[in-house]
Amino acid sequence: MAKTASLKLDGKEYPLPIIEGTEGEKAIDTRTLRAVSGHIAYDQGYGNTGSCESQITFLDGDEGILRHRGYPIEQLANQSDFVETAYLVIYGELPSPAQRKEFGMRLRNNAAVEVQMQKILEGFPTTASPMAMLSALVSGLPAYHADLATNNFEQDLKNFDLAAAVAISKIRTFVAMIYRYQKGLPFIFPKQELPFCENFLHMMFSEPYKDYIAMPEVAKALNLVLLLHADHEQNCSTSTVRMVGSSAANLFASISAGICALSGPLHGGANVAVMQMLQSIHDEGDDGTRFIAAAKSGSKSNRLMGFGHAVYKNFDPRAKIIGKACDTVLKKLGIKDPLLNIAKNLEQAALKDDYFVSRKLYPNVDFYSGIIMRALGIPMNMFTTMFAIGRTPGYIANWREVAANPKGRIYRPRQIYVGPTKRDYVAIGKR
Ligand code: CMC
Repeated sequence: MAKTASLKLDGKEYPLPIIEGTEGEKAIDTRTLRAVSGHIAYDQGYGNTGSCESQITFLDGDEGILRHRGYPIEQLANQSDFVETAYLVIYGELPSPAQRKEFGMRLRNNAAVEVQMQKILEGFPTTASPMAMLSALVSGLPAYHADLATNNFEQDLKNFDLAAAVAISKIRTFVAMIYRYQKGLPFIFPKQELPFCENFLHMMFSEPYKDYIAMPEVAKALNLVLLLHADHEQNCSTSTVRMVGSSAANLFASISAGICALSGPLHGGANVAVMQMLQSIHDEGDDGTRFIAAAKSGSKSNRLMGFGHAVYKNFDPRAKIIGKACDTVLKKLGIKDPLLNIAKNLEQAALKDDYFVSRKLYPNVDFYSGIIMRALGIPMNMFTTMFAIGRTPGYIANWREVAANPKGRIYRPRQIYVGPTKRDYVAIGKR
């Protein structure tokens, strides 16, 4: 028999269905609550609200578990690569060799950017924020791929495979172009024969008449960074993608909105904030004590960046993987980065401090990802765009779930109004 919860209110009892996920997550279904009782469920910031059912990613914040389509992140990080994980996240299964080849071909065939889009980029000041330029370019994609972006779910789903490949491949090309544009360097065309990460590094770092050939360690490290960002359940930007997509907006428009949400320092922008913090500790010759003391003030602007997570309250499994990878990558590349030592000292000091321990604040993925990216030659102002490349498969998979859900409805939360009650208008001269 289906389980129900019971809500007692003003002497009446309302049965509410219980929903249970495949990993035992339980929810009280409050969809009928307003209709039967006149009350809405209030949950500021949706911290305890399930906004959808999803088959993509399972996350247990208390246990530090992250799985995509059932596969543990640790196994994917050790054995898979970004493109294969992207396929898994989007399509639900690991690809067969033929599927992997076909997916790779679609990515390769859609890497080049139209000349007119290059002109759009060149219309921005070179000092513009890379995330602002990236979201603008992505929101411009429907103009060049109108057939893939009709704002009609049925039609857009028919062209989904191609639209997904365009999004993943071109977002990577856009990021390389933005980097070169800001540096005043000519754009480099993608090379058909190169794998995804190697092609990105080629477009970023090649010089005229001198192709950049990525060392295997560099390509592997980049694969890891992107893979670890591939999806992360209903985070702020992914929920944004779902929300925008729920209005039947096309994939590119929805991803562009997600990229805007990602740009904030509490979300994707945290990797930049971490590096700025580490750099300023380094420049001041401090050991981090000042930052830890300030972070404990409770002020949001003084938070220890790269620490804490909205759902992980034990450890962030991605941070464990990337923290270890940092050591390996820097050693292999022969790089000694003083910021890595500062990060480690800061982590140790914070983990011994009662403020952080009692609030279950641990390093998150952003605490170490910047150090790896810096070792690969990616400048700090591009870090969040790298996060966007990595997160694109998750955005795509989530958009598809929304578009393909026959019972879906437009995302439209309610609110509790706390503004003035009704009052009469007074003309400007009489106020
Ligand atoms: N430094 C100092 N104190 C903190 C921090 C921090 N980084 N994070 C949370 N706290 C405190 C907070 O002040 C509160 O204290 P109190 O109970 O005394 O009021 C307590 O810990 C609980 O915090 P919260 O605001 O309920 O936590 P949240 O779940 O709303 O916020 C967070 C999660 C990630 C926004 C927050 O931890 C934060 O701002 N961290 C720094 C930014 C960061 O690294 N963001 C990257 C997140 S991982 C990448 C991603 O997936 O987007």
